[in-house]
Amino acid sequence: MRTAKGSAPSRRPAVVVLLLGASLVFSALVVTIQSSFFTGSRRSLVGREEIRVLSDLQTRLQQCVASRGLGLTADIIDHCKLVLKFPEGTNSTWYNAQFKIFEPLEYKYDVCEAILLWEQYRNMTTILTREYLDVRPDGWLEYAAKRIAQLGADKCYNRSLCEEHLNLILPAKPPFHPRQFKTCAVVGNSGDLLKTEFGEEIDEHDAVFRDNEAPVNEKYAKHVGLKRDFRLVVRGAARNMAAILNGSSDEVLIIKSVIHRDFNAAIKELPNPVYLFQGIVLRRGAKGTGMKSIELALSMCDTVDIYGFTVDPGYTEWTRYFSTPRKGHNPLQGRAYYQLLECLGVIRIHSPMRAERKQDWSDVPSKEIIRSAHTVALRLKREQTGQEGDLGPFGNCKVWGTMDGDGPVSGSLDMSDTRKNSNYNKWELVLLERLRKEAQEHYAQMGGVSLYKMDGNKLDDLVCVKHTL
Ligand SMILES: *[C@@H]1O[C@H](CO)[C@@H](O)[C@H](O)[C@H]1NC(C)=O
Ligand SMILES: *[C@@H]1O[C@H](CO)[C@@H](O)[C@H](O)[C@H]1NC(C)=O
Ligand SMILES: *[C@@H]1O[C@H](CO)[C@@H](O)[C@H](O)[C@H]1NC(C)=O
Ligand SMILES: *[C@@H]1O[C@H](CO)[C@@H](O)[C@H](O)[C@H]1NC(C)=O
Repeated sequence: MRTAKGSAPSRRPAVVVLLLGASLVFSALVVTIQSSFFTGSRRSLVGREEIRVLSDLQTRLQQCVASRGLGLTADIIDHCKLVLKFPEGTNSTWYNAQFKIFEPLEYKYDVCEAILLWEQYRNMTTILTREYLDVRPDGWLEYAAKRIAQLGADKCYNRSLCEEHLNLILPAKPPFHPRQFKTCAVVGNSGDLLKTEFGEEIDEHDAVFRDNEAPVNEKYAKHVGLKRDFRLVVRGAARNMAAILNGSSDEVLIIKSVIHRDFNAAIKELPNPVYLFQGIVLRRGAKGTGMKSIELALSMCDTVDIYGFTVDPGYTEWTRYFSTPRKGHNPLQGRAYYQLLECLGVIRIHSPMRAERKQDWSDVPSKEIIRSAHTVALRLKREQTGQEGDLGPFGNCKVWGTMDGDGPVSGSLDMSDTRKNSNYNKWELVLLERLRKEAQEHYAQMGGVSLYKMDGNKLDDLVCVKHTL
């Protein structure tokens, strides 16, 4: 009782401050309203014309979803917000045991955010490099430690120890470049793939991305193809890697989350190039591997076709093409989001529901429309966040660094003979002159700057590294 009484008077001043604060906010509000009355719309960089650009895009998205969405519909809320709805009566069969709910049939999106996010990915570097760790102020001490499991410390207090863990998989500079490939196929693992024969079509792409244990062999060839270029894996796949990569020594392995001793030991026996993905959402738990494969592909490809990412709206089980049925996760949520991305021109969906199709993408808003919407969305965002100036590609650069030297070379000093004599250099030592014209042009337009994500899911904070030639 005594302590409660004693503390009561000290609470009073806080209340006074609070009231005072509230009245200040109120009068500030009045002032703001008045001043915007006087200055009119001149204060806003985003005028009626720009809102029209975004609203126009929304209308086109709505049409695109209606014609491509296999029953999905889009409700426009305002110039940025949109809701995608599955048809009434859709059976939601995936049950979230944690929240004790079935998957919802409606998903709300901020299209302005989505455009900014996915256009940015096309210019990103998504492989962890030595230059990134060097340039980031906390790069070695904090960030590197998060990418090593079983380190035995929360930070890299002993940098040589951390280097030992990472050397094998850490190239000096980005081994891959934006626009490096014209067409890419990202192959998910959905059991749906067995309902179609997209194999040949998949193999016609300049690069094919797969994930985890996805088998590639004669047995599944007509469904998933045989071409193997990139494979994104979670750490659990480490122990099977030798078997999975058997006979495919050029296939680039990209580890999604963390490296550890066992993984390193396995890598030393592999001839394949191996890297760490850069841009994972640390701590909060990573999003699905499928989504990350799409991010990876967008950071090097002009066109990204996705296969094996869908289920029927009335699905009863979520299977993988090479294993018995499993529970899976959030199939409706994924399908709605991929549909939005398709209508934003980011990816192209291929599914059994469109197996007999003509390749007609005319109902997807054009690149020009997306580009103008991007410009407006960027201005709108800068205005909302009170950020000044630069609308160019470096507007989000929070940390800058400069790198010189000639070759993008892996840092490892202890490469085993298997790796030393492998075809590792096929990817890493590609000279700029040998990249396709679009990639060279992009590099020139960017002034030799590589953009990396800092942390999290947003791309608002970038680490930017300028390469001097
Ligand atoms: C740091 O790690 C290296 C490599 O494992 C080791 O040789 C060295 O003794 C460590 N230094 C300290 C101070 O623990
Ligand atoms: C790789 O494939 C060959 C031939 O198919 C087989 O003999 C060998 O055991 C395989 N190695 C591994 C590690 O799976
Ligand atoms: C949804 O499930 C119920 C019960 O399993 C079934 O009767 C119904 O036909 C299903 N609806 C659709 C649209 O698949
Ligand atoms: C992406 O790169 C192009 C140059 O190829 C540049 O014009 C554009 O502004 C960049 N966009 C972003 C979002 O970085």
